[in-house]
Amino acid sequence: MKEMEIKLTDSTLQGHLEVPGDKSISHRSIMFGALADGKTTIRHFLKGEDCLSTIDCFRKLGVEIEETEEEIIVHGKGWKGLEEPKEVLDTGNSGTTTRLLLGILAGCPFHTVLVGDASIAERPMDRVTVPLSQMGARINGRSEGRFTPLAINGTKLRPIHYELPVASAQVKSAVIFAGLQAEGETIITEPQLTRDHTEKMIEQFGGSVTRRGNDIIIPGGQTFKGTDIYVPGDISSAAFFLVAGAISPDSEIVLEKVGLNPTRTGIIDVLKDMGADIEIQEAQIAGEEVGTVTIRTSNLKGVEIGGDLIPKLIDEIPVIALLATQAEGRTVIKDAEELKVKETNRIDTVVSELKKLGAEIEATDDGMVIHGKKGLSGGHVSSHGDHRIGMMLAVASLVAEGTVILENAEAIAVSYPSFFEDMDRLIQGKKS
Ligand code: S3P
Repeated sequence: MKEMEIKLTDSTLQGHLEVPGDKSISHRSIMFGALADGKTTIRHFLKGEDCLSTIDCFRKLGVEIEETEEEIIVHGKGWKGLEEPKEVLDTGNSGTTTRLLLGILAGCPFHTVLVGDASIAERPMDRVTVPLSQMGARINGRSEGRFTPLAINGTKLRPIHYELPVASAQVKSAVIFAGLQAEGETIITEPQLTRDHTEKMIEQFGGSVTRRGNDIIIPGGQTFKGTDIYVPGDISSAAFFLVAGAISPDSEIVLEKVGLNPTRTGIIDVLKDMGADIEIQEAQIAGEEVGTVTIRTSNLKGVEIGGDLIPKLIDEIPVIALLATQAEGRTVIKDAEELKVKETNRIDTVVSELKKLGAEIEATDDGMVIHGKKGLSGGHVSSHGDHRIGMMLAVASLVAEGTVILENAEAIAVSYPSFFEDMDRLIQGKKS
């Protein structure tokens, strides 16, 4: 599936859908399952390439992981159960796997080498290796440890008080994993609230962590007990259908069992702000908040998006940019420099690809400005190997006049292997 021709013009989307499991939670469930004592059973795990990379790395670290149609079963033997791998660990396209593994391996008494794909090789790892080195970690890598390949020689770690220079859940989580192994109490101060799945999972596995304002306090020397995990639907995947439903004519989509952790629901805030016809029903708690979200064709208006909202929707900005092309007036996205260090530079890739479809969109230093409402045309576009750019462009093809040809559509399998099947089911209006 290198190049894919998509023609979904003027489609109406109808039906119910349960999107695949949350990527962030799926990664962490394997990690904590591997570090815990005993069996962890994970339901609704995301079998996307990124999370499969995490499974592969932990298998190479000596952890037994069974995969069935319905479940993943991790047979953890505690921190001490991890073994020195005989091979290089390949984290593929996954920033979460690479950065969180660094925090885990920093305290494990053996040597490991981490390598990823061409995109990972360009992504900054010093944001993790700097605080881990302050804790005593021995990590070497290309460009003085800034990039993969990285070699880690695990050692005893000391606690630190670390003020995160960027709002990043990956950096926070890497330091948390190191802090869990340190002798004493580690404190992390975050500049803005970021996704807190690691903190929630520590508690689900019987450990402890405290939040005081912007501080997260992690007692060292913790051990965990295996448990059962249900992974809610990924709101970052649901986002593509929320936007598709809002901008396609005569549409109504009901998304079931979507994760509604308040650190992740920025897309819902933006849709409401834009005036979308959206409803949230019966949010229940299952370790993480879960609920049903209904979206219908909407008349939208432009908005300003920035500040503390950005970490709550950072992965949704590509599809929010598309949404803004179909909203009356100007949408400004600011304070989002972090987009430059994602799977691609998402300021560049969003602007260049949407322009090819006729959007009025300009890049700024820390985001973008979109002028709507603008009819989109067909065109030849590329995912640039970035799953979220690929899915955003596939959704764009629903409202484009003419054929959209999407290159490198295979990248979508990183987080949503069944994306086109699910889209097709809604186009047919079949109830899933
Ligand atoms: C993630 C955190 C975010 C997000 C990424 C997943 C996580 O990255 O963009 O897709 O699972 O912790 P940053 O920590 O770099 O903001």
